[in-house]
Amino acid sequence: MKAGPYAEIPRVDAYEKVRGRAIYGTDNNPAGLAHGAFATATIGKGRITAMDLSEAQAVEGVRLIVTHEETESLQPARFIMQHGFAFQSYSPVLTPHVAYRGQPVALVVADTLQAAIEAASHIRVSYEEEPFTPALDSEGADPVPQAEAATAWPIEDIAVGDAEAAYAAAAVKVDATYTMSTQHQNPMELIGTVAAWEGEHLTVYEGTQNAGACKFGLAEQLGIPAENITVISPYIGGGFGQKNTTQSQLVLAAFAARELGRPVKVVVPRRQIFHDSSFRPATRQRVRLSADSTGRFTAALYEIDAQTSMHDFFQSEHADTAARHYGYGAFRSFARLVPTDTPTPGYMRAPFEHATAFAIESTVDELAYELGMDPVQIRLLNDTKIDIVSGLPHSSRHISTCLRRGAEMFGWDRRTPEPRSMVAENGDLIGMGVAIGLYVGAGGPNRASIRATRNGAIEISLGVHEMGQGIRTAVANVVARHLNVAPESVTAILGDTRGVPQMLTAGSWGSASSIPAAEAACEALREALDALGTNAPEGASPAEILALADRDELSVNAATFAPGQNKEALGEIDTGHVAPTGPVYPDFVTYSYAAHFVEVRVEPTTRRIRVPRVVSMLDCGRVLSPRTARSQAISGVVWGIGGALREAGEVDERYGGILNADIAEYLVPVNADIGSIEVGFIDEPDPLVNRSGVKGLGEVVLVGVAPAITNAVYHATGIRARHLPVRIEDLI
Ligand code: MOS
Repeated sequence: MKAGPYAEIPRVDAYEKVRGRAIYGTDNNPAGLAHGAFATATIGKGRITAMDLSEAQAVEGVRLIVTHEETESLQPARFIMQHGFAFQSYSPVLTPHVAYRGQPVALVVADTLQAAIEAASHIRVSYEEEPFTPALDSEGADPVPQAEAATAWPIEDIAVGDAEAAYAAAAVKVDATYTMSTQHQNPMELIGTVAAWEGEHLTVYEGTQNAGACKFGLAEQLGIPAENITVISPYIGGGFGQKNTTQSQLVLAAFAARELGRPVKVVVPRRQIFHDSSFRPATRQRVRLSADSTGRFTAALYEIDAQTSMHDFFQSEHADTAARHYGYGAFRSFARLVPTDTPTPGYMRAPFEHATAFAIESTVDELAYELGMDPVQIRLLNDTKIDIVSGLPHSSRHISTCLRRGAEMFGWDRRTPEPRSMVAENGDLIGMGVAIGLYVGAGGPNRASIRATRNGAIEISLGVHEMGQGIRTAVANVVARHLNVAPESVTAILGDTRGVPQMLTAGSWGSASSIPAAEAACEALREALDALGTNAPEGASPAEILALADRDELSVNAATFAPGQNKEALGEIDTGHVAPTGPVYPDFVTYSYAAHFVEVRVEPTTRRIRVPRVVSMLDCGRVLSPRTARSQAISGVVWGIGGALREAGEVDERYGGILNADIAEYLVPVNADIGSIEVGFIDEPDPLVNRSGVKGLGEVVLVGVAPAITNAVYHATGIRARHLPVRIEDLI
């Protein structure tokens, strides 16, 4: 690791993007392209008994209709949490079973998209209906203790000390329950696939966070060798966890293209994505938190009911993070999963931590008021250097610094503690709130291959995907610094299975897994250049050395692992699987941290909530690309505002499915909802987690924004919001 903060460079793909030259997955239109559209289920659950395709087949331009009767040769997808590649184990159109309303039941392929859509609307399906359970609170939604749920990676409840006894004996305590609606990520780029065969070889263009899973998952489902498949995903128009895994359309597009002998494009419309992709599960959390009279937390009891599907256990990791918020004297968790007749929920940006922080950080705020303590002070008092669960030290934990610097930047000392004590000139109630957030510092193996040419170009292939977060810019900045070249001379080949193996980019481990490999590759290239024996002057660029050696180019490979990992982890990524490790490493525990400070203005009569000002201070280890990091942080705050005040999937209890399945009615913040957002970074390299000093940033930025807002709303109004999103009617 080289010393000193990284310089700020512009986003390296900015010009490509603004000129429309960045080619996204379904921007590709191979010659002879046909278009697919789904017909979808209109019942909550049941079985297809008959399908009348005659009207659909009569639509001009229709070439193929794929139903469960044609797909017997295809293997069902396997769930990622069972060491598979898909977001769930259930595969629509591969079976007559209907698992939830809105799932695909047939794929129509036609010469034009219009013909495909029209024909899909003419498919007549007869069903045998079954009763269904659409939501966490529906009748028949029965919790299963997570410790008893059969999964590939079992998660036990946590017990540190005797939390029940400590809670019972405590002087001050709070017992509160917090609930959250389902939330749905809505990347601008829709889910979609372009599948094109050339003889036995299949090329897939798809916006995905996991080109490796697309390749190997597809090989498994189609029953063909993985080396016959290329997946190309250089840019993604937002993923946020929705594109972690294979989706329903992938195998069907590939199958239809093979059947037809033509490339096929399937773009899943927004309304269908709401009904047949992963989402943030609804949760019910109960927190019992106690303290002694000085404000030290003596015990936390954390219970969660998290939604899953009938066909899979999407595990809850909420408690793992809850246990790391503070140095509680004792801690106990109880996690339960609640199966519903829905797609399997999944990873949506800060998948567990956003909900956990809402419950924990709200309870801490309640306890601070019980004690008459300042909300920043109580958090500083309960910080810890040791992870109470494992007994290991934290590799780096700068949350107290985040709180102090954030408080100063925000002007926290201007806050008067009493609820309703701050009023603006126009009569708006002013509230100021604080909350912290944390996110696992995961890492993983990665391969890198780097090539330097005599004309000055550096090409590096890494197992990571550019989904807009700025990894291409971070890679360019790191490689430029290590090879003493300009960032513009660096080309990164990402999300492309023609390069090194492509592992899932998620869990905020993109930088922590790929940047160490990039650095190792730069080091290996330096050594290989030195071995040319040119006696080049100190600081010579690779091109200068190659010229002295009269060589056109030089390529080297490298591989790196996270602490505690060995070569076996490479076997996982080489076969399209995930191989993350952390936050608990052999000798330490690693998390990233955020402290968010929020000002709200609540209009006293209508109770309209505004968020004019947010200050966020972040500890993500080394910052690799200041500009894109700042952009990530701002985006996390914007999402937190949406998560707190706007976002909710409205489940249709009568028929199943989601009522507000579009971004007109699934509300997200717009420009008018956003005021000033100031972000800052501690920028201290983590000394242990990897050679680059990098933790993770993409998700922690969102964690804790929601409770900082609801805590500010309490300060403004004296009303405690215990459900997200907070609506005007909650404050009347
Ligand atoms: Mo993320 S929600 O781990 O892509």
